[in-house]
Amino acid sequence: MRTLSLAIAALTLALTAAPALAQDGAALYNSQCKSCHTLTPANSPAGPSLKGVVGRRLGGSPGYLYSKALVAKGGTWTEASLDAYLTAPATFAPGGKMFNRVADPKARAALIGYLKTQR
Ligand code: HEC
Repeated sequence: MRTLSLAIAALTLALTAAPALAQDGAALYNSQCKSCHTLTPANSPAGPSLKGVVGRRLGGSPGYLYSKALVAKGGTWTEASLDAYLTAPATFAPGGKMFNRVADPKARAALIGYLKTQR
């Protein structure tokens, strides 16, 4: 009985913790994006800097060698275009160099909200 109530307590904790984490843009960034991106002016060897990306032109981090596909799209990153890109990068910019998708709309919103704070 004691084991059972401990298991229930652990399960409850896991279930309540999961949605809270999904809302945390910084934590999502650190676990899903940081391996290839930076939030400083310097690019990562694996991807462009995302400092100030919201409102920046597509393919706009100086010194990073982007795919032709992303540069050819043109325009500036908005919350809507970032949402579309993170939903399906290969559909947004066929032939692009990023393949990481964020399937959960709430996670995308949290990530974009966090990127907006990284001016
Ligand atoms: C495995 C490495 C990798 C991971 C992980 C990754 N990216 Fe990227 N990302 C790239 C590469 C490479 C590019 C350049 C794409 C191109 O040139 O077509 C890019 C481009 C971008 C751009 C366009 C930047 C610009 O200057 O136009 C955004 C926005 C972006 N990534 C967001 C994210 C977010 C948010 C995450 C986490 C959910 C993430 N990326 C995870 C490699 C990665």
